[in-house]
Amino acid sequence: KIQQDFLNKNIVITAGGTQENLDPVRYLTNRSSGKMGYALAKVAQKRGANVTLISGVTKLSPPVGIEVKKVITTADMATTVKIAFEKADIMIMAAAVSDYRVANPAKQKVKKDNDHWLVDLVKNEDILKSLGKLKGKQILVGFAAETENLIANASKKMLAKNLDLLVANDVSRNDIGFGTDENEVTLLQPNQDAIQLKRANKDKIADKILDTILKIKN
Ligand code: PMT
Repeated sequence: KIQQDFLNKNIVITAGGTQENLDPVRYLTNRSSGKMGYALAKVAQKRGANVTLISGVTKLSPPVGIEVKKVITTADMATTVKIAFEKADIMIMAAAVSDYRVANPAKQKVKKDNDHWLVDLVKNEDILKSLGKLKGKQILVGFAAETENLIANASKKMLAKNLDLLVANDVSRNDIGFGTDENEVTLLQPNQDAIQLKRANKDKIADKILDTILKIKN
């Protein structure tokens, strides 16, 4: 029997990737399928939580009975996340959020008249960082998608964004991270030893992330 150990807990989870338009036809995005965030939502619901899933573009269908808010751009994600954050007990940012948007998206489809097309990208809000500043009683969980120096880069993010837990994964590998059914993560918490979760199905990884969250006293 599944423990209902998240009963009456409001958990907000972001999943999937954002899209930033270049013109009405083309956009910048990333390789996130949404599987990690959707797994967290499914497992959290099974364990009794009230789950709000804020989802970028994905091919996945949401777990039945879960409220899904669809977003496209990082700006959309920021607005929706901040509203949901107010009522959250736990916030898990598993989405792959674009750090940049196109400064001047073209109003019409860009024609291929020139050999080069130079694009000016401007920085988006770091939503997780903003949440770290807004944080009250919420437990704030972030992810780190790194291709090198995993622990060093992830530790920096955990401290800089005032996180209670950071889930680090090496996205340079093709057997875990983006798009795969399995993941392998390192869990980092302030003043705690790192916890290494060996490669497993994303539902299993989600279960262990939730086990760790349950132990956080803030
Ligand atoms: O969706 P899948 O295909 O299953 O792949 C899973 C995953 C690899 C996407 C997931 O495990 C993961 O690593 N998600 C975080 C991806 C990411 O954007 O990592 P980052 O290191 O660039 O961002 C760090 C954290 O800040 C993340 O929690 C991110 O949600 C958040 N962020 C990032 C940029 C931004 N502008 N605002 C943010 O809030």
